[in-house]
Amino acid sequence: MKNQMYKAGSQANEDIDVYLDRNQNKSVLRFITCGSVGDGKSTLVGRLLYESKMLFQDQLTQLEEDSKKLGTRGQDIDFALLVDGLSAQRDQGITIDVTYHFFATQKRRFIVADTPGHEQYTRNMITGASTAQLAVIVIDACKGVLEQSRRHIYLCHLLGIRNIVLAVNKMDLIGYDQSVFEAIVSDYTEFATIVGISEHIAIPISGFRGDNIVACSDSMAWYTGLPLLAHLEALELEHRSGMPQDFCMPVQWINSPHSGFRGFSGRIASGTIEPGDEVRILPSARTSKVDRIVTFDGDLNKASAGQSITLTLNEEVDCSRGQIITAAAPPLEVADQFEITLIWMDEKALLPGRSYYLKIGTQMVSASLAEPKYQVNVNTLGHTATKTLELNEIGVTTLTTERPIPFAPFAKNRTLGGFILIDKMTNATVGAGLIKFALRRAQNIHWQPTDVTRDHRAQLKKQKAIVLWMTGLSGSGKSTIANAVELKLTQINRHTFLLDGDNVRHGLNKDLGFTEADRIENIRRVGEVAKLMTDAGLIVITAFISPFKSEREMVRNMMEDGEFIEVFIDAPLSAVEKRDVKGLYAKARAGQLANFTGIDSPYEAPENPEIRIDTTQTTIDEAAQIIFEAILKFGN
Ligand code: ADX
Repeated sequence: MKNQMYKAGSQANEDIDVYLDRNQNKSVLRFITCGSVGDGKSTLVGRLLYESKMLFQDQLTQLEEDSKKLGTRGQDIDFALLVDGLSAQRDQGITIDVTYHFFATQKRRFIVADTPGHEQYTRNMITGASTAQLAVIVIDACKGVLEQSRRHIYLCHLLGIRNIVLAVNKMDLIGYDQSVFEAIVSDYTEFATIVGISEHIAIPISGFRGDNIVACSDSMAWYTGLPLLAHLEALELEHRSGMPQDFCMPVQWINSPHSGFRGFSGRIASGTIEPGDEVRILPSARTSKVDRIVTFDGDLNKASAGQSITLTLNEEVDCSRGQIITAAAPPLEVADQFEITLIWMDEKALLPGRSYYLKIGTQMVSASLAEPKYQVNVNTLGHTATKTLELNEIGVTTLTTERPIPFAPFAKNRTLGGFILIDKMTNATVGAGLIKFALRRAQNIHWQPTDVTRDHRAQLKKQKAIVLWMTGLSGSGKSTIANAVELKLTQINRHTFLLDGDNVRHGLNKDLGFTEADRIENIRRVGEVAKLMTDAGLIVITAFISPFKSEREMVRNMMEDGEFIEVFIDAPLSAVEKRDVKGLYAKARAGQLANFTGIDSPYEAPENPEIRIDTTQTTIDEAAQIIFEAILKFGN
């Protein structure tokens, strides 16, 4: 059998599947090595690969060539080259995500996620840990348990890894001293107990010399446990605590119904399935029975977690990509508000109220976060109050999704309880989180239908309710133009309401300032009010700087199609600054007013507004007339 190395990414996922298929009979252990910088992780991984004596053919050849060039053929040279290769590969991997190495012994196959130790790469470590069943926490015997070790121990536990091996490395450098080893283990145990880790194995090793890796070391006769590889081989995988047994498979694709074969394909996230089993499709909750379990190698009588399969069902049921097939009983919960633990992974701090994409299982929905309840100090595990989370910080907060989603608490199901958050503008992964539980509020508050509908209310007023959303720099003329437009509309008996930034900030939003977070909340509230007013059948005109694309998009998505008309009052900064009606630009330039839009706070101009008014070319009256006529065209 060959030993193979791949980098993470979509390609790697396919490669992993190919690799697994080729080795059907042996069990697989996915594990992660983590620890601080310079603790010898690469050497340890290199040692495991080297000792498993199943090097990838290309690499073997390369090693032989390199050895020939160097004129030596010693084991140490090969090993050193292998470790160098691994470090180089991992350093490249930093920009990608995680480097995975595959190796196998007579008893088991292994996939090891090798991640960099630096704090700024915590996100890579999280990616690697998210699928791992075991973590090897590498501690440098010369340095002991460091802050980064604590962070990784905490994260591994948080991410559901219940099998932890403490590998105290570089024992050769401290003369194989038992008392140093024991002091480190006791330090670790103290911290692990607070985290909630009750069981662990500690092994004194030297990755460099190979002590206690494959065979017990003569230099440490005082250690009576198993060597590392033997422990990895012997670990009982069926009894991973906290993992669900119920069948659950997010649907990744659907075979074309035109081919006469309708099958639902995906990778089983948990549990087992057999033909004849009753299943439930979520969120529709429709049930059906499994007819066949189809794979490339023929039909199966049974399939279990980790396998990629295609299910055919007895009855035709609606099921689309991203939905979930589960055991019929008990059903997964469905909710739209959750208490979550969140690890923030972006340079830019979390913005409460901003709408992010949430990817959970194969589902993708819009979601927003509340201000964190607290932040967790990974050293002391104490809680501190905070308004946001910065890069690598961990906290607990409330998450709201735009529609109810099927889920399971992370403690029961890593696939349906773990998620990532993606920035809508940059597409960067900004956070990773775990669902603790659904808020009861979400389950106990239902939408109350009313007999008089929004259409009735608009019809009575003989108009179509819309939101005319003016955006632009302070002093661009939004309020003046909005005022003129409203006047014109009332003159033809339209029912309107004007929401103006300065006015709303005197009442509803008087608690908000001009930080990014406060502006987001300002627009969120105004969006909700505008929506209520369209429900009342009104033509709503708003005049807010509303500097961020994300929030303008959020309000657009809150409205029905065609109800949101974005009007960009486009005035160059130089012009509004010259006018400076309220004297605020002068103050901002003098440093007396912080976070002023256009000066030290950004304005993101709309790219495709429904209406754009160029204020350098258009008078107020002309602008009002253009907008007025446009409103009539939009059905009023
Ligand atoms: S928004 O950015 O949150 O949409 P909003 O339109 O409500 O802003 O309020 C903008 C008005 O507040 C401006 O027209 C100006 O009169 C006043 N203002 C006071 N401080 C600032 C500031 N730092 N940045 C922008 N406007 C400010």
